[in-house]
Amino acid sequence: MRVLGIETSCDETAASVVEDGRRALSDVVATQIDIHRRWGGVVPELASRNHVVQVMPVVDEALSRAGVRPEDLDAVAVTSGPGLVGALLVGVQAAKALAAAWRRPLVRVNHLEGHLVAAFLSDRAPAFPYLGMVVSGGHTSLYAARGFGDYAVLGQTRDDAAGEAFDKGAKLLGLPYPGGVAIDRLARDGDARAIRFPKAIVKGADLDFSFSGLKTALLHHVRAHGVPEGRALADLCASYQEAIVAALVQKAFRAARRLQFERLVLSGGVAANGRLRQVFEETAAGYEGMEVYLPAPKLCTDNAAMIAVAGTHAFLRGERAGAELNADPAWRL
Ligand code: KG4
Ligand code: ZN
Repeated sequence: MRVLGIETSCDETAASVVEDGRRALSDVVATQIDIHRRWGGVVPELASRNHVVQVMPVVDEALSRAGVRPEDLDAVAVTSGPGLVGALLVGVQAAKALAAAWRRPLVRVNHLEGHLVAAFLSDRAPAFPYLGMVVSGGHTSLYAARGFGDYAVLGQTRDDAAGEAFDKGAKLLGLPYPGGVAIDRLARDGDARAIRFPKAIVKGADLDFSFSGLKTALLHHVRAHGVPEGRALADLCASYQEAIVAALVQKAFRAARRLQFERLVLSGGVAANGRLRQVFEETAAGYEGMEVYLPAPKLCTDNAAMIAVAGTHAFLRGERAGAELNADPAWRL
């Protein structure tokens, strides 16, 4: 079974052909980072316009790299939400047009489900049920993943997403977009114990996150001391990153243990963070019987292979989308 996935929910135009929901025959991602960097973040209108330019060449490349013709495809899967409405619409319209022209079935995919099933593209795939944590630019959520298409949200952020905490913190420090990548890189040479930041934990509601207090603490620090340079900047980045990582790891493992999950699956752009991955692995060693799954960084950030995986199983369940398919920017999983 071969499914073409198309993803345009934010600032990556992506297409991929996935075989049997497990193996990416191609995984093409055209990023717009250079376009948005000069504005310090994603500009929705620019994102839409660039998706229009990129989407067909990216699809062509995904097919040719996979060595697959349209008639070899079993279905076309597209992200129809959540995300930027104008950006989503480009992928949805392209997918509808291609599915109609090629006479292939069309299925819609929730972007967050894509992140939750990205681990199935790794050599070592998880089994259901598992606790899935999506940490991205727009979401920080814990899900009970009970089967393909069967998820229940257990906790989420009350304010900023983990990726936003990285991106907004980086902006305060004058670092380039996307801030998570910049902080990750600088923090490698820093001392994470240099500055004490509050942990992003909500008291009482123990499966929810909150990152706005942390961001404010960084703002106060910068107001009081200015933005440091060199070694001190690395220390500040490492300390700030550590507060985010500690909160994510603590919540995830506590939730997994308390709810008796034996598998913990991480995904979303922030899951590409080097320190988060390291602490996750280290912490897992102390939780007997807990298996952690960290997809390769390329599978954690936005891509279309994960959309094709979710789409394959939606197709197998008999789900179909028609010509009326529309972008659903606030689609809740
Ligand atoms: O999943 P994703 O690619 O797009 C969304 O669905 O939002 O996540 C993007 C987010 C951005 O906030 C970006 O700063 C963050 O993921 N990110 C990272 C790293 N790479 C991407 N955050 C921390 N460390 C990284 N290495
Ligand atoms: Zn994403």
